Amino acid sequence: MELDRDEKERLRQEILRRRSQLAIEEREQASRKIVQEILCSKQFQVAEIIFAYIPFRDEVDISALIEECWRMDKQIFVPKADKASRSMTFYRIESWSDLEKGNYGIMEPKRSCLSHTNEKIDLMIIPGVAFDRKRNRIGYGAGYYDRYLSRLNHKPFLMAPAYSLQIVPKIPTEPWDQPLDAIITEAEWIY
Ligand SMILES: Nc1ncnc2c1ncn2[C@@H]1O[C@H](COP(=O)(O)OP(=O)(O)OP(=O)(O)O)[C@@H](O)[C@H]1O
Ligand SMILES: [Mg+2]
Repeated sequence: MELDRDEKERLRQEILRRRSQLAIEEREQASRKIVQEILCSKQFQVAEIIFAYIPFRDEVDISALIEECWRMDKQIFVPKADKASRSMTFYRIESWSDLEKGNYGIMEPKRSCLSHTNEKIDLMIIPGVAFDRKRNRIGYGAGYYDRYLSRLNHKPFLMAPAYSLQIVPKIPTEPWDQPLDAIITEAEWIY
C-alpha cells in the first residue's frame, strides 16, 4: 500500500514535469482538438447541466468549450475549493467576469454566483494529472474529486480531457479512487 502511494506520487511528479515541457503551440493545438471531440460527442450535445473546470497552468485548455456552453444555453458550473474541509462547491458562471483568483492561484467563481444544489448533473469534465487505459486517474493528490464524486447519489458521465503524454501504462489505485467513463486525448478516446 505504501508502495502504491509512492508510485502514484512518482507518476504525478513525472507527468507534471513532462506536461510543463510541452510547447505552447502543441498545447493549444491539442486543446483545440480535444475540445472539438467533446463538442461533437453525444454526451455533450444532450447535456443541459455541465460541470467543468477553469484551466490552470498547462492543463488542457477547455475555455472554448465553456464559451460554447454559453452560446448553446447550457448551464456550466465550475468549482470553488474550500481548503479547510478539502471540499468543493460548484457555481454557475455566465461570463468570464464571474471569476476571481482563489485558493491555489486558480480562478474560481465569485460567491455571488448561483451555487449548485440540486442533484442533476448531466456531464462532468474533470481535470487530472495522469491516467491509464482502465480509466484510472491521478489528480493533484488532495482527494478533492474523489471526495466530491463519492458523495453524489447519481453519477454523471465523467470525462477527462488529457494530452496523450498523460496516459501511462498502469496507475496503482487506492480504495477511494474514482474511475472515469472516458478520457479524451488529441489522438484518441479511451472508454
Ligand atoms: N471519499 C473520500 N473521503 C475521505 N477522504 C478521501 C476520499 N477520497 C480521497 N480521500 C483522501 O484524499 C487523499 C488524496 O487522495 P488521492 O491521492 O487519491 O488524490 P488525487 O486523486 O490525486 O486527488 P484529486 O481527487 O483531488 O484529484 C487521500 O489521503 C484520501 O484518504
Ligand atoms: Mg485519487
